Amino acid sequence: MLTGMPDRVRPRLLIDCDPGHDDAVAIVAAAAFADVVGIVTVAGNVPLDRTTHNALVMRDLIGLDTPVHSGCSRPLVAPPRHAGFIHGESGLDGAELPEPTTPLDGTDGVEFIIDTCRSSEGLWLVPTGPLTNIGTAIRLVPDLPDRVAGVSLMGGGSFGNRSAVAEFNIWADPEAAAIVFDAFDPSTPGSAAGPLIMAGLDVTHQFQVTPDRIELTRAVPGRLAAALAGLFDFFTGTYLSRHDEGALSGAALHDPLAVLAITHPELFEHADRHVVVETRGEHTAGMTVIDERRLLERSDPNCRVLTRVDADEAFAVVLDAVARFSN
Ligand code: RIB
Ligand code: CA
Repeated sequence: MLTGMPDRVRPRLLIDCDPGHDDAVAIVAAAAFADVVGIVTVAGNVPLDRTTHNALVMRDLIGLDTPVHSGCSRPLVAPPRHAGFIHGESGLDGAELPEPTTPLDGTDGVEFIIDTCRSSEGLWLVPTGPLTNIGTAIRLVPDLPDRVAGVSLMGGGSFGNRSAVAEFNIWADPEAAAIVFDAFDPSTPGSAAGPLIMAGLDVTHQFQVTPDRIELTRAVPGRLAAALAGLFDFFTGTYLSRHDEGALSGAALHDPLAVLAITHPELFEHADRHVVVETRGEHTAGMTVIDERRLLERSDPNCRVLTRVDADEAFAVVLDAVARFSN
């Protein structure tokens, strides 16, 4: 919990995302509290052309000076699968957003990730979509995880949202996700020290954009807040329409937690666990298999699994970020 505002160092991070309503908030939070060395887009919530367009829209909306490169347009092995039923066909339905005025910096997203990891010290990789780009980069440069401060991803969990056990980001490209989690597995020769931080559904479902939080957002002056309030209205509408009455009070605002885990770690509790990704199961492909056993013979941990978030404080941080771009 926050015990007085700690002195904050602005971490350096690269976001790999599939905007996506919650990815858009992750970009705002990163811009407010970190040095964003670049944004790379991946096919996920919507096809790559749309996630890339949406990343450019968000960059312009907050006046962020950082390059945007598009990455992989489809998963390594799995068929392309999207989530327009949650985010709308545009990927950011619910607000009138200005067309981008700044051009895409490249279509070489994976190479951009590799080059940036090689040229930067202390860089965090923050994937908030399917792990296709990150997995491909690690497959090309196996010691890449050793060159970064860590990876903080949104994905996985002890339950799923695309199946009983598989969360969308992992389910969309299980093979890529397996590459990433295995790269930090102590039993993998040459594995990276980490940390690999996982903001899975167990923690992101604690962080819902409830009606009062939408109104708090709408009350912030400026174009960005108005746009986000509209996006939240849409996002919550589609989310709640797909759940039992009373199951949730608002859409789970998943992706910004992968950023706040680095910028505001005091807001979280975690458990170090061994996590492996199932890629073959007929009913379990895309599952993050989290070893919760108290058995001493269990595998050594490769992942810092976020278990709890101070949701009120975290949303106050998000509102602070939004207010900083209230032009
Ligand atoms: O399952 C939630 C994740 O899938 C979030 O990253 C959301 O943006 C979608 O990509
Ligand atoms: Ca996402």
